[in-house]
Amino acid sequence: MTETPPRMHAEILAYYARGEEDARLREGGAPAGRLEFWRTQDVLRRLLPAAPTRVLDVGGGSGVHAEWLAQDGHGVELVDPVPLHVEQASRLPGVTARLGDARELAAPDASYDVVLLLGPLYHLTERADRLRALAEARRVLRPGGLVVAATINRYAQLHDLLREERYFTSEHRERADAVLVDGRHPYHDEGFFTVAHFAAPDEVTAEFTDARLTAAGQYGVEGVAWLMGGVEDWLDDPERRETVLAACRHIESEPTLLGTSGHLLTAGRRRSA
Ligand SMILES: C[S@@+](CC[C@H](N)C(=O)[O-])C[C@H]1O[C@@H](n2cnc3c(N)ncnc32)[C@H](O)[C@@H]1O
Repeated sequence: MTETPPRMHAEILAYYARGEEDARLREGGAPAGRLEFWRTQDVLRRLLPAAPTRVLDVGGGSGVHAEWLAQDGHGVELVDPVPLHVEQASRLPGVTARLGDARELAAPDASYDVVLLLGPLYHLTERADRLRALAEARRVLRPGGLVVAATINRYAQLHDLLREERYFTSEHRERADAVLVDGRHPYHDEGFFTVAHFAAPDEVTAEFTDARLTAAGQYGVEGVAWLMGGVEDWLDDPERRETVLAACRHIESEPTLLGTSGHLLTAGRRRSA
């Protein structure tokens, strides 16, 4: 019997088909995206084994991270359900890209040293789908291999709207408050982002455990720096950028602060046989 490929929300595909993702984290993009980029790179460079490794970047988008990982000497394959992203990533030197879904990977068992899930978990709104994506990551990892998954924190929208003063509008406030209940961020025509799940930090480690991955650390990406006016602008000054990154590093795994960051990285391992 052939299995039907998992379905994607039409709203998610339409959102990314607009072609705005590639610029989001790059030089010249919005400040919050640049802080996310520098910090994600900073954490991944410390977590990944020395190059060359075989990396599968699942939900890798247009290849913003795949690009520097390939430049660092890793062998990078990218999978994404958005045709435009696959086309953009395919043009990057050292990166191969193909269409696919985190819940049903085409890769053979135990074929990668590292699997990145920097996107799929926050677009899979059902727990069963997130577990399926984590189980697929585990399946394609070699024993002892590393998985790193990004989630958007449960409290990110409330923080973001408050900082931008949009929380004072009752319509926005009601939506941000509703997300606090179960993490469900539905699609709104005039809303922000698209269909998503905003996770509590301990929810992610519980899902890793249920997918038989050994959780191996959590890292707040932007820390509290993204909530401070001006900090992101300091990233243009290389010296100040290093200072901001070092400050974020000091508190990145402090349990009482994990939920304050916009994004969270959770690392895990497939147990050695
Ligand atoms: C915000 S982008 C992040 C892209 C990149 N990984 C990064 O960190 O900048 C989220 C990505 O997840 C992808 N995605 C959403 N649902 C997915 C799924 N079920 N399987 C694989 N990728 C998915 C989207 O197509 C999109 O490229």
